[in-house]
Amino acid sequence: MKHLIAPSVLSADFANLQRDIEMINSSEADWFHVDVMDGVFVPNISFGFPVLAALNKYAKKPLDVHLMIVNPDQYIERFAAAGAELITVHYEACTHLHRTIQAIQATGCKASVALNPHTPVAVLKDILADLDMVLIMSVNPGFGGQQFIPNSLRKIAELRAMAAEVNPALLIEVDGGIGVHNTGALLRAGANVLVAGNAIFAAPSPAEMIAELKEVDGRILES
Ligand code: DX5
Ligand code: ZN
Repeated sequence: MKHLIAPSVLSADFANLQRDIEMINSSEADWFHVDVMDGVFVPNISFGFPVLAALNKYAKKPLDVHLMIVNPDQYIERFAAAGAELITVHYEACTHLHRTIQAIQATGCKASVALNPHTPVAVLKDILADLDMVLIMSVNPGFGGQQFIPNSLRKIAELRAMAAEVNPALLIEVDGGIGVHNTGALLRAGANVLVAGNAIFAAPSPAEMIAELKEVDGRILES
């Protein structure tokens, strides 16, 4: 499949949110990546249900909701009702991950698990067949605009090899420090959904940057 681009709304201009939503609607982007932070799981607070409701009202593409919160089980039904199409929970925040995944899928949403940079992909071995997506964090979660951690490439390749047997359709999303400079390498490692915040919203033309990220062909080695 052609890789998907998910612009991170965290880097949008919240004073002009509708404008930025319309830009994503009319761009080549595939999803809206929506970062929810609680100030406990991560050292930052982003936004919650009112902003999600505003997004859901105007967004014409799926909402990919990344929960950086403790005890996500408590809010799964509310996020589904607020318009999420995919819900990602952190491995590090879930004691009964299998139950959480089942609860997400019971709402009709696709279920995904995120791994922090220090968490090995091997911890997902016994749940991989049940997942729709795995999100490899390529920065420590909490903030946009951080530098890509190169070891993430090795993790993606290892996860793609693990999934080949039990879940070949698994989506592998990568989040943090992504731009045109590392998109080809990420695709070659086995990723197929790329989140980008700063690279898109700090570009002179965000829509053109989305098109550039979408155009990268992982089969061609950049010089
Ligand atoms: C980080 C968030 C990311 C972030 C990515 O905690 O999960 O989605 O917005 O932003 P960039 O692309 O700027 O690293
Ligand atoms: Zn994210």
